[in-house]
Amino acid sequence: MKVIREPREMQQTALTLRDKAIRIGLVPTMGAFHDGHVSLMRRAKQENDVCVVSLFVNPLQFNDPADLERYPRNEAADLEIARSVGADILFTPSAAAMYPPDAQTFVEVTRVSQPLCGGQRPGHFRGVATVVAKLFMITLPRRAYFGLKDYQQCRVIAQMARDLYFPPDLVFCPTVREADGLAMSSRNARLTPEDRRAATVLPRALELAQSRFADGERDPSVIQALVRERLLTEPRAGIEYVEVVDAQTLEPIAEIAQPALVAIAARFGDIRLIDSVALTPPSPEPEPLAPDPLDTSDVPHRVAPRA
Ligand code: PAF
Repeated sequence: MKVIREPREMQQTALTLRDKAIRIGLVPTMGAFHDGHVSLMRRAKQENDVCVVSLFVNPLQFNDPADLERYPRNEAADLEIARSVGADILFTPSAAAMYPPDAQTFVEVTRVSQPLCGGQRPGHFRGVATVVAKLFMITLPRRAYFGLKDYQQCRVIAQMARDLYFPPDLVFCPTVREADGLAMSSRNARLTPEDRRAATVLPRALELAQSRFADGERDPSVIQALVRERLLTEPRAGIEYVEVVDAQTLEPIAEIAQPALVAIAARFGDIRLIDSVALTPPSPEPEPLAPDPLDTSDVPHRVAPRA
């Protein structure tokens, strides 16, 4: 596995590969690898000729400097994991290389960045969109892989890619969970043992939403209240939001008649965790024209089929 730190060197390498029709699969990450990252890397490796993993703790997406400071970093361990999974290139630039002092260009995706985490973390999705746009231009991937644990991030990136005609196929992959249901996240490692136990209330609350939905409940406010009530049974959980929104626009809905998302954010000590689940009503009739199964640009929870 080659380690590249300079954006220009990475771009030159990508151009050379592209000239030889070698397809790059990109897995953008902020490091502190867990099995969720590993599953993205495996898939990128399987579906492309070359797997590039980017490791960059992007300062632009942290609205709280203390959160950036505390973000887990372990480059040596990450390098070993990426190597063992078979990544071909680890691209790990410095902040100064990604954001030189004279940088003046930023990417802002408006509406879909505003609800949910957008309200709690001003500027966060501008930072995500900007760095992902740069990573696309530097690594020139044929496909790019993201985890659906960060559902709103997937929606923001899909909207950006569509609006700006970015060429890579976006592959949104299912959330990988621990045995007790907690969604894997680099932040989990920083939970105290008590908070780690308490955090399982998140998947349990979402399971409750799923089961009430399966029983026929279609009122978003009923599901929202149930989930909130369940979270309130755990005194260690500081709820930031519980929302049931349209899965595409992330805007509030009056009824779950189309794919919806139950999204939650809660703090355990100073660790903020998010999780979500999609609720998809069965189609009433077989559709006359099936949607293009390869078009994953709009609805992130529709996972792209394997190549
Ligand atoms: O999900 C992440 O790890 C980051 O938000 C991403 C997509 C790598 C951008 O910094």
